[in-house]
Amino acid sequence: MSSQQHSLKPFNTFNLDAFAKNLVVATTPEMLCTAWQESQRLQQPALLIGEGSNILFLQDFQGTAIVNRIEGIVVKEGAEAWHLHVGAGENWHRLVTYTLENALPGLENMAMIPGCTGSAPIQNIGAYGVELKDVCEYVDVMHLATGKIERLTAQACEFGYRDSIFKHRYQHGYAIVAVGLILNKKWQPILSYGDLNQLAPETVTPRQVFDAVCEMRRSKLPDPAETGNAGSFFKNPVITAEQAKVIAEVWPDAPRYPQADGGVKLAAGWLIDRCDLKGYAVGGAAVHQRQALVLINKDRATSDDIVALAHEVRQRVGEKFNVWLEPEVRFIGAKGEQDAVGVIA
Ligand code: FAD
Ligand code: EPU
Repeated sequence: MSSQQHSLKPFNTFNLDAFAKNLVVATTPEMLCTAWQESQRLQQPALLIGEGSNILFLQDFQGTAIVNRIEGIVVKEGAEAWHLHVGAGENWHRLVTYTLENALPGLENMAMIPGCTGSAPIQNIGAYGVELKDVCEYVDVMHLATGKIERLTAQACEFGYRDSIFKHRYQHGYAIVAVGLILNKKWQPILSYGDLNQLAPETVTPRQVFDAVCEMRRSKLPDPAETGNAGSFFKNPVITAEQAKVIAEVWPDAPRYPQADGGVKLAAGWLIDRCDLKGYAVGGAAVHQRQALVLINKDRATSDDIVALAHEVRQRVGEKFNVWLEPEVRFIGAKGEQDAVGVIA
């Protein structure tokens, strides 16, 4: 038997056959902290995992995988808003469903995003016009060396597009243990994105927005339970206004989203699609037919297949548009995270 005994297959939505030396399922912040400190004592790496819906295992993990399953949802009523304190291991979509069933709307645009609530602040999850930052009140983060828990306000989290302080200053040696959400009692539908603008703003209900979001997602995104994937493999690139002008002259139909800081976001899926890469395969990995930004484990793919495919996609898009895509997915090597661009460049 291999010394790498614990399968990580249930903990990565790419459905890859990776293993870890040790595996701990932590149901309390204390368990999580103890597991991390034990791995430090053994001088072994530790990896925090939620549901593995944004990670790509490059190799077996030579240390302790700590799976966060800290539960609990506490709702408090304020004068103008509902305040939710949510354990980091709560499944995000179940939380969205729970809020809808309990007449606490505000999360419906972010229905069906896989993963744990505690992972949501890390890349500031977002979909259909709403990001976590729009509903986040605070994040409780544990300093693993001391076990001390610090409460960061949403502002202190430095949320950006697929970015936060948890990818920078609070990345190593910290674990998110709870998330505070604030849901305004005066519900306003957000119908700016895609087909949602077909709904009537005066009469639409949170449930109808939820249903429309679920339907759009089902029509485009593969279900990881059937086809391994990690959602958008790359981030949508943000380029300068000057670069965007050049692209618009040659490809006037390229989707362009002006940003508050003057940059312009492009749709990576459109760029990949325009390179005629839908369905393109390397080994068992392929570009999804219905959404080119999603790379799938089509048929027993290895991580090498996915890396080679990602390299090819990035290269083709770069050569055609002079725009160089960066993975959204986090690449995990034998001892921890690796620089994803470096791996596929
Ligand atoms: P994991 O993949 O387990 O972990 C992600 C990273 O966070 C890793 O580096 C891990 O080490 C670290 N981490 C995990 N838990 C903790 C913790 N408690 N404290 C500190 N660090 C931790 N994302 C969007 O934003 N919008 C979408 O619309 C969207 N759609 C998706 C659709 C599909 C089909 C899939 C598969 C993914 C999609 N994603 C989307 C990506 C994914 O859902 C999010 O990134 C999600 O927040 C990941 O949660 P997770 O628990 O699976 O994190
Ligand atoms: N497009 C194509 N061809 C494709 C895919 C997309 O032409 O194969 C075009 C679409 O027609 C549209 C544009 O590209 O004009 C954007 O496509 P879409 O609305 O599907 O959104 P996206 O930019 O591909 C982003 C997020 C998703 C999120 C959706 C909905 C990123 C990296 N991805 O995708 O998040 O669900 O918007 O808000 O920002 C994720 O992060 O994993 C993820 C799935």
